[in-house]
Amino acid sequence: MLKKITAVYFSPTGGTRKAALFLAQGMAEEVCELDLSFPKITEYQFQSGDCVLFAAPVWGGRVPAYEVERIRACCGNGAVAVTAAVYGGRAYEDALLELNDCVAAQGFRVAASAALLAEHSIYHPAAAGRPDEQDRVQLGEFAAAILKKLAEAPDRAAEVPGDRPYRQWSQLPVVPAVSDNCVRCGLCAKKCPTAAIPGEDPAKTLSDKCILCMRCVSVCPQKARALPAPIMAAMEQKLSPFKEMRRENELFL
Ligand SMILES: Cc1cc2nc3c(=O)[nH]c(=O)nc-3n(C[C@H](O)[C@H](O)[C@H](O)COP(=O)(O)O)c2cc1C
Repeated sequence: MLKKITAVYFSPTGGTRKAALFLAQGMAEEVCELDLSFPKITEYQFQSGDCVLFAAPVWGGRVPAYEVERIRACCGNGAVAVTAAVYGGRAYEDALLELNDCVAAQGFRVAASAALLAEHSIYHPAAAGRPDEQDRVQLGEFAAAILKKLAEAPDRAAEVPGDRPYRQWSQLPVVPAVSDNCVRCGLCAKKCPTAAIPGEDPAKTLSDKCILCMRCVSVCPQKARALPAPIMAAMEQKLSPFKEMRRENELFL
């Protein structure tokens, strides 16, 4: 076991964080968390003896631009990195490759990577309930294999699937709709990673700031926020083939 690992993640609805912690807890006695979901970008310096786990949710087969921007404020200075792309049961396409490129460009040595499953944050029947107990056990095994690799060949880079240039993806041109259930408690405004919801009028969403991360939908105690019904119907059509499928976590050493 390592003494300490830092888990760096963007996890709007909690799935990426949960998967990252299952992995990190199997690797080190102490897990520090660095949550990147704050509107303001802050610089972080790591050192060559550090081990850092970078975890990203997969959006359209890519790493969210929001997270890429924040990783660019992390300086590795030769620290070892483990990466994890966390996806909702459809596909992760170029996300793991993009994450590795991004982390390596910041001066980290990427020694191991994983593609992990978490419940789809828009279409919940896909990868429903994951990461679950079975995943927790498997990620413990992944952690042991990563530790072995770090001890034996820390400088051999992990090869992962994906293509460059990365696939094109653009966000749907919608924002979550707000129903009459909204009591203007302001929790969504407080938790929004891009400050897209005005605190003084939380029933609004600023379309130029919203990145459709689903944080506001998932935290609303009144269930007053949801994607518009026609969008959800299109999602159901596109993603229903993945609802009965149990995809496997993958490890790349
Ligand atoms: C905008 C958006 C795009 C997504 N694109 C994909 C995708 O391309 N493939 C996939 O399998 N899941 C996709 N998902 C599902 C997320 O990757 C998955 O639910 C992830 O675990 C969410 O992480 P979080 O719970 O930390 O927010 C997408 C989710 C969102 C919000």
